[in-house]
Amino acid sequence: MKERLDPTSIPKYVDPLPIPPVLRPRHRLFGIKHYTVKMRQVRQKLHRDTPPTTVWGYEGMYPGPTFEVRTNEIIKVKWINRLPIFRHLLPVDRTIHGAEPPNPRVRTVVHLHGGNVPARYDGHPEAWFTNRFLVTGPYFKNITYVYPNIQPATTLWYHDHALGITRLNVYAGLAGFYIVRDAYEDRLNLPHGPHEVPLVIQDRSFQRDGSLFYPARPEDAPPGARLPDPSIVPEFFGDTIVVNGKVWPYLEVEPRKYRLRFLNGSNSRFYRMRLSSGQPFYQIGTDQGFLDEPVPREELLFGPGERLDVIVDFSDFGNETITLLNDAPTPFPNGDPVKEGTTDQIMQFRVTIPLAGPDTSSLPSRLVPVIPLPEEAALNIRNLALVEDTDRFGRLMLMLDNKRWSDPITERPQLGTVEIWRLINTTPDTHPIHLHLVRFQVLDRQPFDVNAYRATGEIRHAGSVARPDAGEKGWKDTVLVHPGEATRIIARFGDFTGKYVWHCHILEHEDHEMMRPYEVVR
Ligand code: C2O
Ligand code: CU
Ligand code: CU
Repeated sequence: MKERLDPTSIPKYVDPLPIPPVLRPRHRLFGIKHYTVKMRQVRQKLHRDTPPTTVWGYEGMYPGPTFEVRTNEIIKVKWINRLPIFRHLLPVDRTIHGAEPPNPRVRTVVHLHGGNVPARYDGHPEAWFTNRFLVTGPYFKNITYVYPNIQPATTLWYHDHALGITRLNVYAGLAGFYIVRDAYEDRLNLPHGPHEVPLVIQDRSFQRDGSLFYPARPEDAPPGARLPDPSIVPEFFGDTIVVNGKVWPYLEVEPRKYRLRFLNGSNSRFYRMRLSSGQPFYQIGTDQGFLDEPVPREELLFGPGERLDVIVDFSDFGNETITLLNDAPTPFPNGDPVKEGTTDQIMQFRVTIPLAGPDTSSLPSRLVPVIPLPEEAALNIRNLALVEDTDRFGRLMLMLDNKRWSDPITERPQLGTVEIWRLINTTPDTHPIHLHLVRFQVLDRQPFDVNAYRATGEIRHAGSVARPDAGEKGWKDTVLVHPGEATRIIARFGDFTGKYVWHCHILEHEDHEMMRPYEVVR
């Protein structure tokens, strides 16, 4: 039996924050950059004092290398699976959709989260492929995806999306940044170069030999419960915090402005972040781009899949050490509090580097206009409930609109039309709901009577309508749908037709039926 590593025994802030390298194209052909990315199993040091950890990484690194593209620039990426052929790094529950025999245990497909891409390059969960040396099935595919990048500057990310094992593949390390830049961003004169830092926050647990720990069954499974072995867990919360692949790192900074691009790349954990100095973050962007104007915020909340683009000004803090703190309960919002000394901390900023030159970057008072999609433009309004149920083993299972992944498609928006989706959360937890392909705006949130809804299927409002938070008043691709609230989003469906998906970005939920296909039709 392996022994778990006690997170309180791990010294914090002894490793510098790694910055994932920018990926170079293999070559250019007719002005199109061609990239090749190989997924490989490697051993990587995630902390000074722990033995190397076996991870799965794009180009053999965790997190993967960063893509840097310009708006409207077409790129091609060949995704190659060189992972072990038979052995998954983590326990695969073979009763979950897509993971059943005879499907191989190790399958991959890459999704560009937030990407406006044709359906065949979207990384559909069923479009998985294997290592080409697995020759026993129809699994040999060459996967070259084309990304048109027809979208404004923002922080996207790419990650694995194989049906039924997404939680395991991402946990093993298959995630990376994909940054889109454009002329609007150039004109804003934001901090850049060494003063622009991507930060992917994830929670992990370890064994004492350095290996990743992921539970093979729910911790609180009643003894004698007839669960499959291994069995999916309802959610996963790691006991250490890892940023850019290092456990509790530090970043040395100059006393000046920095641009921080936060990504919540965790399976289930939300983060509600503050700086120990008490200073604000100036939020400039959200999932799909810039806000109208910067918003000073003492506290930043985000769930799995979401991004936050912020400016932090360290100029008044010479020689100080500032800790990035977290106090989001697990599950959010009514779960257990964070643990003092471990999950209540994320990383440190040390204002120890002398100023290399005057800070000429700006925090502009106006960013990029966000034009509201008018409600009147909506051709269709869909009511979609988030509900709890149990599966055939009696395990908790979450569903969208009471349907499973394999049920026929019910959401077929027409290309170019606007729809309002009202996400009605009847469960006790917040779910980060993500739609592929489109960007949307959050219209509002309204509390409703959950019991009355369960009994009658009608929404009886139980409180006043709340406008979106200041930090959400931009284009989003993932929205927090809080318990007992109906959250309305509005989107124009396009720019492509075809089959996409929408789902909860808590990866344990997504893998266990909280995901649905949808199709944009002509
Ligand atoms: Cu980030 Cu469908 O996923
Ligand atoms: Cu996505
Ligand atoms: Cu969920």
